Amino acid sequence: MKGDPKNLGFATRAIHAGNPPDPTTGAVVTPIYQTSTYVQDGVGGEPEYEYGRVQNPTRRGLEINIAALEGGVDGHAFATGMAAIQTLMTLLEVGDHTVVSHNVYGGTFRFFTQVLSRYGLEFSWVDTTDLAAVRAAIRPETRMVYVETPTNPMMEVTDLAAIAELAHEHDAVLVVDNTFLSPYFQRPLEHGADVVVHSATKYLNGHSDAMGGLLVSSTPEQAEWFAFVSKSAGNILAPMEAFLIQRGIKTLAVRMQTHESNTRQVVAMLVQHPAVKAVLYPGLPDHPGHEIQKRQATGFGATLTFDVGSYAAAKRLLERVRVFSLAESLGGVESLISHPASMTHASVPAAERAKLGLTDGLVRISVGIENAEDLVRDLEQALD
Ligand SMILES: Cc1ncc(COP(=O)(O)O)c(C=O)c1O
Repeated sequence: MKGDPKNLGFATRAIHAGNPPDPTTGAVVTPIYQTSTYVQDGVGGEPEYEYGRVQNPTRRGLEINIAALEGGVDGHAFATGMAAIQTLMTLLEVGDHTVVSHNVYGGTFRFFTQVLSRYGLEFSWVDTTDLAAVRAAIRPETRMVYVETPTNPMMEVTDLAAIAELAHEHDAVLVVDNTFLSPYFQRPLEHGADVVVHSATKYLNGHSDAMGGLLVSSTPEQAEWFAFVSKSAGNILAPMEAFLIQRGIKTLAVRMQTHESNTRQVVAMLVQHPAVKAVLYPGLPDHPGHEIQKRQATGFGATLTFDVGSYAAAKRLLERVRVFSLAESLGGVESLISHPASMTHASVPAAERAKLGLTDGLVRISVGIENAEDLVRDLEQALD
């Protein structure tokens, strides 16, 4: 397309933002600039491209794209979601304190508790659906509030506008890991968040064939810092991965619609199945976060958790599914099923899991975009 897609609709921006025709050949798709360095015109100049760790046109296209989708000032792309979170946390200095959703991704929990705690950063683990608990956890040295909404696997929903206000009253930045809903359904910066994090490995890429992480900044100062840390620490996204994620994002809108409509059919079966004790999905009207999510997002997503009562029942189900694959991760076109207590959240100590209600009977599914009736039938035959 010609011109700036900034003011166009989501699907148009997903396809065109950061993806102009290649200036050298007119290629409609940004090429994979698989190069580590760039020839310079002369000595002492200030070339736009000088070294692959610092600049790469394929990666840059993805960064511009995600900023346009989240409504941020700029984006930065990293080797994985955890690499993005690692860079994000350099906003903090020794002695700074962060209030964190108590049910964040297990890898984030591990990184904060077992790595960053060694460098003088402090964390309080709080149920961020409870604003009074967040308020009580804030200290004079609190500089960050870090949330996932909905959380995985407990599907807890945090009120973004309310928690943003609370964080800002105390001069703390609000960071939202938006991996689960993607900007198609939820754009945290519009509700007052200061930085958005993504594991682009999930819905953004959408095809389970690349890993990546993204940060979206809301101020030029943050963006400048993330660019500086990215060139200094070097945990950047490789060009091939940037290409795959950018290609995935082009179909994000249609994929998310199908993911969600399939999920509605799967949930409708699960809620009435006698072997299922509970279904945790914010799309259900009796879910405690339903009204909040309706307000701050345009959909409920396609990842959900249900309780089959015991480890034995969960194991039986996981071993009997045929269309669903037993695997960690989520957000790909194929449906996945996992056992959080022994897989994604194994790094959370058993006592902490018990406090969260993350019991051995919980099963997490990522509903793909296969035919919904195949997915429903598969779960039914495995549960019977
Ligand atoms: C919500 C969330 N954030 C971050 C991550 C980390 O991303 P990555 O696996 O790309 O490092 C994950 C991975 O599962 C995740 O689910």
